[in-house]
Amino acid sequence: MEGLSRPELIDPTTRLRPSFLAAVAEFRADRDYPTPWFVTDVDAAALADADAGADAFGAYVARLLAERHEAGVRAGFVPMTTLWWAAGDQMLGRLAIRHRLTRTLAEVGGHIGYDVRPSARRRGHATAMLAAALPIAASLGITRALLTVDGTNTASRRVIEANGGAFLDTVGDKCRYWVPTSPE
Ligand SMILES: CC(C)(COP(=O)(O)OP(=O)(O)OC[C@H]1O[C@@H](n2cnc3c(N)ncnc32)[C@H](O)[C@@H]1OP(=O)(O)O)[C@@H](O)C(=O)NCCC(=O)NCCS
Repeated sequence: MEGLSRPELIDPTTRLRPSFLAAVAEFRADRDYPTPWFVTDVDAAALADADAGADAFGAYVARLLAERHEAGVRAGFVPMTTLWWAAGDQMLGRLAIRHRLTRTLAEVGGHIGYDVRPSARRRGHATAMLAAALPIAASLGITRALLTVDGTNTASRRVIEANGGAFLDTVGDKCRYWVPTSPE
């Protein structure tokens, strides 16, 4: 599916609409993991096939970009940088960096969350995507990123550990890790 293009983190763009919509459909059909938060957060109209869906998708992308700044965040949210992991026009995954922690995020969510579409899993994408995001987190002033993961999510725990994550503790059913964002 990746073709010849090398995957990279890119800003959300309407250019990837067809592949984004296909990825969302895969996430919804996935029986291995719960539906990711970002899938439930997509505007329903942005998922429509009709021409009107293109406008709604543009609005969705604009919202993601606006949420990077204090003025664009929803009540109860902190600024968040959403990035897409893409190879050419193919969406492979998404990642979000929360610019600061709240009391809730400190327990569930942490600084960084990511999802790889089911058809692209087990090819190292999550590991590479998190590695690519750490310098961006550093540039946002996050010197060490808190990541939280279900204790049963072996794949994600490996992703975190491969990126230098140090186990902090367990809160409920979540394991917490500190991941340095620049070489120590
Ligand atoms: C967890 C997830 C991000 C992993 O993505 P991925 O691109 O398949 O991960 P990678 O290919 O980088 O694999 C990382 C490691 O996990 C292992 N792995 C991947 N899927 C696995 C599975 N289902 N069971 C056990 N190990 C698995 C890989 O073999 C690899 O191990 P290694 O480093 O020892 O070789 C992906 O399955 C996903 O999006 N799941 C749903 C959302 C989610 O859980 N997000 C993370 C929330 S904290």
